[in-house]
Amino acid sequence: MILAPDQIEFFHTNGFLMLREITTAQEVEMLQSVYDRLFEVKAGRDAGDHLDLTSVDDGTQPETLPQILNPSKYAPELVNTAFRANALAIAKQLLGPDAEFRGDHAIRKPPQSGAATPWHQDEAYWDPAMEQNEISIWVPLQEATLQNGCMQFVPGTHRQEVLPHHSIGNDPRVIGLEVDNPEALAVYSVACPLPPGGATIHHSRTLHFTGPNRSNTPRRAYILMFGTPPKPRATPRNFYWLAQQKTQWQERRAAAIAKADN
Ligand code: NI
Repeated sequence: MILAPDQIEFFHTNGFLMLREITTAQEVEMLQSVYDRLFEVKAGRDAGDHLDLTSVDDGTQPETLPQILNPSKYAPELVNTAFRANALAIAKQLLGPDAEFRGDHAIRKPPQSGAATPWHQDEAYWDPAMEQNEISIWVPLQEATLQNGCMQFVPGTHRQEVLPHHSIGNDPRVIGLEVDNPEALAVYSVACPLPPGGATIHHSRTLHFTGPNRSNTPRRAYILMFGTPPKPRATPRNFYWLAQQKTQWQERRAAAIAKADN
């Protein structure tokens, strides 16, 4: 899959790009069924790969925004897809020849769910000691609209540093992060409705958001991440919003690691 020069320039200027098609209708159907199966069984829950982004996520409350990290670990048929081959080719065109697969991620917004994914930069979740240069390629497995929570971006924000963030609702038990003062930034947002199997591509510092799902069907999105190999930063950063977090998800991960060590 070859991007046109004006698409590459658009990405570098704006920090995001829309594609009408990155995979086939047939593959979207396959991905949908894998997806529903993984969420049905909460794949990766004990390993710390299943989480609810916007709630306290202790299993006592209804899920508002369930996600699975590394779903291809639990469904190997996700590895050899046209989507992944096309996405890698695109990543090399945008980041350079040493761009590599860095992980995958599944997000399911339940029907009539009030949870938005608040404005954030992905890098705000990551290790502040490392220099990262990554993109996420986000594919809806049904139409993505303003009604069900399509992607929205603030153009050009990938050229800024990581902005201060806080846990959603200022509750350090919640995994999800929100940039401080999102209202001031949201006025510049660009919404990206897509057909099933289309894609948005965004840089790890591009501010983005998806609204609540007000439709009667789940809004499924499958995301592949690519980046150049991370390296230690010369100047440290203080992501105090991560240092303050204390989540059930971190505890599940720590328990899984301790179990693996025994
Ligand atoms: Ni994000």
